[in-house]
Amino acid sequence: MLPVEIAPGIHWVGALDPQIRIFDVIMHAPRGTTYNSYLIQGEQKSALVEVVKRQFTDVLLDNVGRVMDIAGLSYVVVNHTEPDHSGALDAVLRAAGGAQVVCARNARRFLEGLLNRDCEPLIVGDEDVIDLGGRRLRFIIAPFLHWPDTMFTYLEPDGILFPCDFLGAHYCDDRLFNDLVADYSHEFRYYFNVIMRPFKQYALQALDKVAALDVRMVCPSHGPIIRRGVEEYLDLYRQWATQPEPDSTRRLLVFYASSYGNTARMAEEIAEGARQAGMSVALFDLSGVSAGDVIDQLEAADAVAVGSLTINGDAVKPVWDLLSSLATLNLRGKVGAAFGSYGWSGEAPKFIAQRLADLKMKVVGEPVTAHLVPTESDLASCRQLGTAIAEAVSSGK
Ligand code: FEO
Repeated sequence: MLPVEIAPGIHWVGALDPQIRIFDVIMHAPRGTTYNSYLIQGEQKSALVEVVKRQFTDVLLDNVGRVMDIAGLSYVVVNHTEPDHSGALDAVLRAAGGAQVVCARNARRFLEGLLNRDCEPLIVGDEDVIDLGGRRLRFIIAPFLHWPDTMFTYLEPDGILFPCDFLGAHYCDDRLFNDLVADYSHEFRYYFNVIMRPFKQYALQALDKVAALDVRMVCPSHGPIIRRGVEEYLDLYRQWATQPEPDSTRRLLVFYASSYGNTARMAEEIAEGARQAGMSVALFDLSGVSAGDVIDQLEAADAVAVGSLTINGDAVKPVWDLLSSLATLNLRGKVGAAFGSYGWSGEAPKFIAQRLADLKMKVVGEPVTAHLVPTESDLASCRQLGTAIAEAVSSGK
């Protein structure tokens, strides 16, 4: 995608990755993702905030070149060094010649590991300012959101916050702005849950720092740019970061096999329902895990939910592998549940529920099914199943 001028003199110059489905091994990305990079031009100097994953280097260089001669670039701001935002850094620095890297103190050793050389970055701290001429970059150190190196960059007087992964989402749409794309609240929440949730105290500290700023636009490094309802997005993060920790004595494992992300989506909603009811939840994609990998967790779990698509009137092999492995464990009395999306007939969830009952588990309600892509009503049923699982566990304790 070509550059987009998101405000006068500020261009999105990143890359779209609509095909990716698994991000960093652990995250689902059924809607793909974006690697956002922003080129800011002042009256005297310019800065590139974030770069992109290595395989999109050419896209980034081409986009920057359509806006300005990269040889004149003054700064490359590295808010976070994880390779999805730094893979293209070496090529950018070589093309830019005199550009200086700007980063937090904790980023320096990561940069040395990534580049295998010392790029002699300009280390910045809270309240440090770089004047580009007519506009200024101000830095906000925000460690552990979600690496120790993370910082945010705030652009004055435009009121634009560049918080890297914070407030981001794996969601790819070339319309780019949150008021133009479809509802991506699920992806926004999922991103918080997987990436930011372990660092809630740090999230609150960062939100307190940001509260002192006049933020009119948020430009994260993945997913839509937030220009409408900025306060609502910040409030959601504050709300999620202040929710009490789930009761780790009530644990649910959700296993699923999914071809096109539909059963996966159902799994995530079941997990969300159980989490909101206070359970600790772990999700497992059966394309990458087997019962043997999680045997300790299975024994410690209070509940197990299993989901499968249906092919030729049956659950798929990885699901049966899991179910047959459970015979060696004592699951008697634990809570069980079944679910799945289907195209034609949809027998798999029924077979799963029967198998869980045969293992003497307490199966909650009827299996939840969805025809192909789950509707809002189907997803609500999944959340209700998560709640019902939590209630069944509580009543049995
Ligand atoms: Fe998107 Fe932590 O990198």
